[in-house]
Amino acid sequence: MSGTGTLYGIGVGPGDPELLTLKAARLLGQVPVLAWPAPLEGDGMARSIAAAVIPPGRVEIPIRLAFRPERDDTDAAYDAAAAAITAHLECGRDVAVLCEGDPLFFGSFIYLLARLGERFAVDVVPGIASPMAAAALLRQPLATLDEALAVIPATRPEAEIERLLIAADTAVVMKVGRHLPKLKRVLARLNLLDAARAVERAGLSGQRLMPLAEAETLPYFSLVLVHRRGAVPR
Ligand SMILES: C[S@@+](CC[C@H](N)C(=O)[O-])C[C@H]1O[C@@H](n2cnc3c(N)ncnc32)[C@H](O)[C@@H]1O
Repeated sequence: MSGTGTLYGIGVGPGDPELLTLKAARLLGQVPVLAWPAPLEGDGMARSIAAAVIPPGRVEIPIRLAFRPERDDTDAAYDAAAAAITAHLECGRDVAVLCEGDPLFFGSFIYLLARLGERFAVDVVPGIASPMAAAALLRQPLATLDEALAVIPATRPEAEIERLLIAADTAVVMKVGRHLPKLKRVLARLNLLDAARAVERAGLSGQRLMPLAEAETLPYFSLVLVHRRGAVPR
């Protein structure tokens, strides 16, 4: 690997730019090439969160994703990004991949790590993940003492969400969006609807916190905390 650059996976936190770590801010000020996932147009969330610490004149590689559930074009987008990043790493230039929240917690960096991790030196800078930000906003513990916490993508089938909720004391349900009716059904069946609270766009414009029972719609950038023993232990 001598002579090649380092691939950095940099977590930029869930939205509030003040939740960037000192290490992320330092590296983003130094690394000459930045790659970031984004919709088909615009900067994307990770790039926007970190904007204040990115100096002008960096080489930037947007990874354009259609964010369609069927993911047809996603592999091709990551392949193309991996090829562009490889060209820089092979010339000895470090490349930082920006990732909303934490890079290894449902992060897009995982797809680049899979493609490039065997060939290049990799350094991962953890970021504050969205469940931590949501718990802080709600002032609700994620887990305490011997409680088991489940992290459940709402994209899973209804029966599996139910099984995972039953197995845990507390849960974070991610990627809610259009799966809200399914999630509400399961929670109501388990008599947990009143133990669930939603956080929409934590730390971003349009942030909202609410009891899940009152949420009529939720965007993709929302999550739900469920605590079957009540919100705050006494
Ligand atoms: C692809 S995952 C990325 C998770 C991210 N790497 C992290 O560490 O939180 C996207 C999901 O994370 C959750 N999420 C991420 N940022 C959020 C935010 N600011 N507010 C609420 N939910 C968020 C939502 O459930 C969303 O569907």
